[in-house]
Amino acid sequence: MLKVLLASRNAGKLREFSELLPHLQFVLWPKDAPELPETGAFFQDNALQKAEGARAWWNEHGTEPVDGVLADDSGLCVDALWGGPGVLSARFAPDLSDYRLKNQRLLSLLPEVADRGARFVCVLAYLPSSGPPFTVSGSVEGSLAQEHRGEGGFGYDPIFIPQGHTRTFGELPSDIKHSLSHRARACAALKERLA
Ligand code: IMP
Repeated sequence: MLKVLLASRNAGKLREFSELLPHLQFVLWPKDAPELPETGAFFQDNALQKAEGARAWWNEHGTEPVDGVLADDSGLCVDALWGGPGVLSARFAPDLSDYRLKNQRLLSLLPEVADRGARFVCVLAYLPSSGPPFTVSGSVEGSLAQEHRGEGGFGYDPIFIPQGHTRTFGELPSDIKHSLSHRARACAALKERLA
């Protein structure tokens, strides 16, 4: 079983990775480790930046050897907001700590008649202990709900309705999210690359 350092502290992502990649043994990013910078303009740049930052820190401070480092950069891209918040999804509305309020703020930015098209995007960067790094990605098309609906998932899930459904990711059971989400698709591509 590959032992992989997971360069994220996002509880929602951690839960999903353990469900989507049960054949990997994850080493969690330690609580006392630094916040990993993500200053790129694209999901791919940020995923690689986080993975490389995590590897550099782990090389100096790590407590056990790992076979690879995995980082995720993801976000919600809204057509009527020119693709925003996109790579800035984690930093949207920093004055609000609660996602119910952040979601309300995001929806309030949409004009009445706006196209509600949106997609979730996920890029995973994997750095093996030997060999070149690579990235894989996944996305899911959908639209924005009129209001925050459902308590499942995390982040923007309660305002995102995947194509072909009427319920938000916050309302749908997690096995449905895992059958079509951006992260599930990126994880499937990662599994293939690691096989
Ligand atoms: P980052 O990848 O650390 O920059 O953060 C991505 C942000 O996008 C998260 O903090 C969430 O707000 C949002 N996000 C990414 N994936 C999901 C998802 O599957 N559901 C809901 N929100 C997500």
